[in-house]
Amino acid sequence: MAKLAMHGGAPVRTQGFHPWPVHGEAERQGLLEVLESGEWWYGAKVRAFEEQFAAFQDARYGVSCMNGSMSLEMGLYACGMQAGDEVITTPYTFIATPISILRMNAVPVFADVDLDTWNLDIAAVKAATTEKTRAIMPVHFGGVPVDMDAFSAFAGERQLAIIEDACHSWGTQWNGKGTGALGACGGFSFQVSKNITAGEGGILLTDDAEIAEMARAFSNYGRGKGGIWYRHYLPGTNLRMTEFQAAVLLGQLSRLEEQTLHRERNAAWLDRALSAIPGIRVQQCDPRVTRRSIHVYLFRFISEEWDGVTRDQFLQALQAEGIAGSGGYPVPLYRMPVFSKEADEHGFTPEARPYYAQDVDYARVHCPNAERLCREAVWFFQPWFLGEQADMQDIADAVAKIWEHRRELLQTRV
Ligand SMILES: Cc1ncc(COP(=O)(O)O)c(C=O)c1O
Repeated sequence: MAKLAMHGGAPVRTQGFHPWPVHGEAERQGLLEVLESGEWWYGAKVRAFEEQFAAFQDARYGVSCMNGSMSLEMGLYACGMQAGDEVITTPYTFIATPISILRMNAVPVFADVDLDTWNLDIAAVKAATTEKTRAIMPVHFGGVPVDMDAFSAFAGERQLAIIEDACHSWGTQWNGKGTGALGACGGFSFQVSKNITAGEGGILLTDDAEIAEMARAFSNYGRGKGGIWYRHYLPGTNLRMTEFQAAVLLGQLSRLEEQTLHRERNAAWLDRALSAIPGIRVQQCDPRVTRRSIHVYLFRFISEEWDGVTRDQFLQALQAEGIAGSGGYPVPLYRMPVFSKEADEHGFTPEARPYYAQDVDYARVHCPNAERLCREAVWFFQPWFLGEQADMQDIADAVAKIWEHRRELLQTRV
């Protein structure tokens, strides 16, 4: 049996994975057109991208902005969040999700996730709902959507807005309809690690004309539709996307469907291969998901089934085999200093954080499944899935090799 690379054996893999970002003639041409036209500011290309991306996700309206974080703030604002309103969200996400809620002076309420899908658990959402709850902000984590049938039914019953954090789910479909306008609205990111990118960028999608109009006004200093330039109706700001970004995004969008299907095929192959190895639990996807974006490919590493090998020992051995996965988020977000007294100790006094949420004692929040995901998660990254099946085979071979040698890892220090 071949030796582990970390113990002097040959690594399974010596070359890198598929490069990212991907670009071609479409981006080059589009950028030159913008440069030479002199029309650098919100114009024909931004409008075309808004329409085409909204259509791609089966939404009626798209309002572009500078990044995914701002798209979430636009969504919360357009849905009428007021100071002190509670918004239920997941603690297993990037900090942008709850920070968008804080910055609207609303209160993030963390509910636990489901261990199979890594997404907000509807039962936990129901249990966290109070008379102050106004909205739910689910994240379609990794690209796998939440159970939108259950979420929509509950939101309808309790008159809650669903603002999707769709920042991992370009191309994902629930029952044949794209994410983003499955609830009231949904925000997307085009930051450089994302599956369609202009370095930075974002968009809010919705089927609701009023939400779209409010979001547009928010992104454009509160100007009214077709209004007078120096007439401002709302306390909005400047979130406008440039024509350069839109030119790049139009090029990226032209390959998004093909790339999404390609990643999906590779991920399905890897799911089958890794599921045959004990102690690996790949992220589950509901059969109502008709297309699935892979932003991060996820599985849980069950230490007990690996004779006590820790997730971090496993990751170290995997990296030595040429596959640099990540353990993802170290803690659920309610343990971040922004939600605790630790911020005070760093000089960020309560006065510097005039949030309603300051009154919430996040030290009392406990979401056991999210905590478990922080200990057990293994993440692989979207560009890897643009490669060949041979790349997937290398990953599966490396994991299988480490499984065979697992007892040798027990002594390694991480
Ligand atoms: C789940 C999630 N929400 C929101 C964001 C914020 O997007 P952006 O970086 O474009 O502001 C990210 C970015 O990583 C994200 O992963």
